[in-house]
Amino acid sequence: MKLIFLGPPGAGKGTQAAGVGAHLKVPHISTGDMLRAAIKNGTPTGLKAKSYVEGGQLVPDAILIDMVRERLAMPDCENGYLLDGFPRTVEQAVALDGIAAPDAVVNIDVPDERLLARLAGRRVCVKCNGTFNVSKLADESVCPVCGGQMIQRDDDKPETIANRLRVYHEQTAPLIGYYEGQGKLRRIDVEKLPIIDGDSRPEDVFKAILASLE
Ligand code: AP5
Repeated sequence: MKLIFLGPPGAGKGTQAAGVGAHLKVPHISTGDMLRAAIKNGTPTGLKAKSYVEGGQLVPDAILIDMVRERLAMPDCENGYLLDGFPRTVEQAVALDGIAAPDAVVNIDVPDERLLARLAGRRVCVKCNGTFNVSKLADESVCPVCGGQMIQRDDDKPETIANRLRVYHEQTAPLIGYYEGQGKLRRIDVEKLPIIDGDSRPEDVFKAILASLE
């Protein structure tokens, strides 16, 4: 299956993608993770992308389209893919339709006020890439899964979060209409799921995603 996860920053795309990708037996491809790895390794793509990612702006379409075209040509994508963070503009969506058009697009809808709290409280493990909210951690600098160091992403600082949300509403939200027009959109509205301790639970979102794909 060829699947896209769409949704604002902090919607839980990365949290759900690993489990759903494993369930569907397709690779989880996160363009955000690919860009952060390129920046860390100082590759030519990383050097070009750094200032955009750290400022919460979109990296130019041409860079992302080339990166995804190369990744989708790899043998592990023979049976499909789960794209998380791509496409993010109509130009990227049109390009993807020419490379390997998706079968379905899951849009995870979360209100902005909930996103702000999630992103400001997010910590990521440098070793296993596990993502947790600071409120769920006994020690906010130690990963509860592998013991690695937990850090705050550079783009999770308050001023950058506001910019990412603005960019999402202006440039990425129009893709909801684009895929609705193709009859491929599945909507997950977290406000319709049980709210426990002020938020939905990842396991309920997971079940809702699988049900939407049946
Ligand atoms: P990217 O890494 O893709 O960031 P993003 O889309 O902003 O998404 P996030 O990773 O912030 O959120 P998420 O939806 O994965 O949520 P998560 O699961 O972590 O992109 C980063 C940057 O790279 C962009 O700003 C841009 O510069 C560049 N870029 C990437 N792709 C690009 C493209 N195609 N074109 C141009 N530029 C591109 O969850 C968030 C938090 O919520 C976590 O703490 C988690 O524990 C918690 N949480 C998750 N689900 C739940 C739940 N159900 N209940 C309670 N808490 C939850």
